[in-house]
Amino acid sequence: MAAVLELDDIQAGVLRPRPTPYVATYIAFRIDDRKAGRDLMGRISRVVTSAANPQGPLADTSVSVALTYQGLKALGVPQASLDSFSWEFCQGMAARFKDLGDTGESHPDKWEQPLGSPDLHVVLVAVSRDANTLEAALAPAREAYRGMSGITAIWRQDCYAPPNEKEPFGFKDGISHPAIEGSGIPGTNPHEQPLKAGEFVLGYPDEMGGTQKTEPELLGRNGSYVVFRKLHQRVAEFRKYLMTHSKDAADEELLAAKMMGRWRSGAPLALCPVQDDPALGADSTRNNAFMYEADDPAGLKTPGGSHIRRTNPRDAAIAGVARIHRMIRRGTAYGPLLPEGVLEDDGADRGLMFAFVGAHLGRQFEFVQSQWVNDGVFFGAGEDKDPVIGSDPNGVSFTFPKKPLRRRFQGIPQFVVTRGGEYCFMPGLRALRWLSELET
Ligand code: HEM
Repeated sequence: MAAVLELDDIQAGVLRPRPTPYVATYIAFRIDDRKAGRDLMGRISRVVTSAANPQGPLADTSVSVALTYQGLKALGVPQASLDSFSWEFCQGMAARFKDLGDTGESHPDKWEQPLGSPDLHVVLVAVSRDANTLEAALAPAREAYRGMSGITAIWRQDCYAPPNEKEPFGFKDGISHPAIEGSGIPGTNPHEQPLKAGEFVLGYPDEMGGTQKTEPELLGRNGSYVVFRKLHQRVAEFRKYLMTHSKDAADEELLAAKMMGRWRSGAPLALCPVQDDPALGADSTRNNAFMYEADDPAGLKTPGGSHIRRTNPRDAAIAGVARIHRMIRRGTAYGPLLPEGVLEDDGADRGLMFAFVGAHLGRQFEFVQSQWVNDGVFFGAGEDKDPVIGSDPNGVSFTFPKKPLRRRFQGIPQFVVTRGGEYCFMPGLRALRWLSELET
């Protein structure tokens, strides 16, 4: 029987789908004084929204809060409790740079400060359908920390999902989401069986039959690991690459679609391999209703190396089991969009605030980033990498299977550069109160 999730104890940021369009703000804090930090947890626990079915004018508005390992430490969480969190979380994202492919220009030494530093303790994320309602939602949160000595706001990032939901390279995003047992929130692929709740929330059985717990159990229960990464996108470079490696405008769009696995409209190659179908792209009942293996085992429609087939191979024959590497994912644009047709970089910082939510940092986020994005062995493509987000100092290779002759691209430049990020834990509401009452 499926576990019933305690939605009123789980933060909205973990499970609740976001409105379209929306704006979001990330605010990071440093805790300089343990008691002030605990006080903040108590105040914030009264402001954060739960994943329980919301009503009223602020129904699609949420405020969520997450802590880093250093943040839990700054609150004085006992060492035995700290040690019960996953070891990747305890190390923090910057320390994991080699496995994540954050080398060269993406190296933590080059990250925007204070990202990746031990000063980053608490991250508040507010999401709403427009700037006015976001301000209304942030007001009580601001009230909670304004004037508190011992707490310093050290970083802020505003971001947005535009009405057409396109990310800065021009592809419709936010289409594919897993279904989660007991959440009442439907997934988007009718061919995918819902995943066990313990894949995403601690304290429930997962796909492997285990249950992630912390010491004490209450601290982890109904919480999730959250990864956020600020990913700069080289939009002009991406456009120029497509143009110089295609025969004409139609071929350029085909190459872009083969690299992503979807046309820019969101229509999947799996369902319309030859030509874009914008009506299909816009139809949320159809645009994610597909699998790969029976129809397209060789990747003649959706290349095995494309971004979406790599990051979720669905039922395709690969080394391993795709279901244990799924994630809840939110991508939110930051910075000004580069106007259509512009091929020269204007120097503006633009890209994606990528967010992952799951119960297993190692076998979900890190595995996908290291084995599926930055390697090709799992589907028999040697050292090929993700042509959209992969990184390689010698350039990425990508194969576009085609009959009679495949097309092969080598030396693809790096289009995405990591500006920073962190591993956080988003506790349940009871756990936030537990943190506020710590007496160590
Ligand atoms: C700037 C960087 C990125 C861009 C521009 C990007 C863009 C996209 C787009 C346009 C889609 C298709 C829309 C959808 O299926 O919802 C997608 C899907 C996806 N992306 Fe990314 N992405 C980026 C980074 C990442 C990273 C870092 C990961 C994980 C390590 C990731 C994992 C996924 C997954 C799991 C899917 C859904 C695949 C599916 O279920 O078919 N993406 N991405």
